[in-house]
Amino acid sequence: MSRIALHGGEPAVTHSLPTYPDIGDEEINAVVHQMRTGPLSIAGTGGIITEFEENFAKYHDVPFALSTNSGTSTLHVALWGAGVVAGSEVITPANTWISAICAILHANGVPVWCDIKPGTCAADAADIERKITTRTHAIMVCHLFGMPADMDKILAVGRKHGIPVIEDCSHGHGGVYKGKKLGTIGAMGCFSLQASKSMIAGEGGVTITNDQYYYERAMLVGHVPARLLPEVKLEVNRRWADTGFAWKYRCAPLSAAIANVQLRKLDTWNENRRANVELLKQQLEGIGCIEFSEIPADITPGFYGHPAFYHPEKLNGIPRSRFLEALRAEGLGLGTGYDPWHEKPLFQIEDPRAAGLPWAWPEGVKMRPARPGDLPVTEALNHSLLLFPAPHAPCPDTMKDFAEAIHKVVENASELENS
Ligand SMILES: Cc1ncc(COP(=O)(O)O)c(C=O)c1O
Repeated sequence: MSRIALHGGEPAVTHSLPTYPDIGDEEINAVVHQMRTGPLSIAGTGGIITEFEENFAKYHDVPFALSTNSGTSTLHVALWGAGVVAGSEVITPANTWISAICAILHANGVPVWCDIKPGTCAADAADIERKITTRTHAIMVCHLFGMPADMDKILAVGRKHGIPVIEDCSHGHGGVYKGKKLGTIGAMGCFSLQASKSMIAGEGGVTITNDQYYYERAMLVGHVPARLLPEVKLEVNRRWADTGFAWKYRCAPLSAAIANVQLRKLDTWNENRRANVELLKQQLEGIGCIEFSEIPADITPGFYGHPAFYHPEKLNGIPRSRFLEALRAEGLGLGTGYDPWHEKPLFQIEDPRAAGLPWAWPEGVKMRPARPGDLPVTEALNHSLLLFPAPHAPCPDTMKDFAEAIHKVVENASELENS
């Protein structure tokens, strides 16, 4: 009789993960208070929106935080802030959430792919530099799954060529890179507060920056004169304040009320996430087929999950899909990261307008569709990434179950070979 659950054995995982998102009395009371006392829409400044933005800015030790209605909109406004115009090239890894890439199109920019750094999930500075042209107006990197990108090198490339670097921190809330909070290192930091993220609003987003120009530019995109007239001060931006560009991206006050409470819990939750990940890693020491992302001493990840790499050659050549199937039967569901977006039809066209899509670039500007082999490290990830959960509350029994599930499947790997 087989021990593995895929072949009829008892599943190893008997303890569950803590419920997430974690909405407690404080969040509920904050929402009820906002509903009772209002307002439910804040077009200008003040109230819970300002309170949350001030708290978020203070947490990051930056002067400016701009709330919006989603992470996607934070990237859209940041790209405007960075000076992206029709036909500007924006360098991004393909290995991120699709809305981040589409935000480049919304800003009428042209996505240009960079590969990721081997052994990580984040953009490779050397490849970013190779992709720079005279049309490059922004570099957008994601701290994917909370693991900080190689910011020293990426910023050095940006500085050398005079190109702003936007940090997509949607997986990196509270993460720290060499003493700096994620989102405060590049020109602007963009955070999603959607309900799966490390702190949530339900739906929402925040863009942070040290730079008043970027802040005002970003605000002009998504806000209306009631907020723009009192806040937009720089001469160069002031002429747009009467109208703004009115995508109307403002954050709902009920969402801000939730996020304002969650921010207070973020550091504790991240500490729990780190402890859970450490516990699991300790118990899996010596498992050759799983290589966890290295966490250097001067880095605190944001822990939106924890990425690892699967090495089938160290498990009798069993493909990742089969390994995952066996783990799923044990009760351990692991993620596999993002689809290879660069291969999809949207990014295989050269000219959106010719394909009947609304984005229009100057004559002669074209997208350069990626061919197989163009992004070798990104492509390899599609067969090797394992995304482990990083639960926000202590759950040692569940972590032990996960380790037990993996040990069991690895020890009985021969059963997976030809069945
Ligand atoms: C890396 C990344 N960037 C951007 C976004 C967009 O955030 P939102 O869904 O709040 O628009 C997400 C959301 O899942 C994300 O994971």
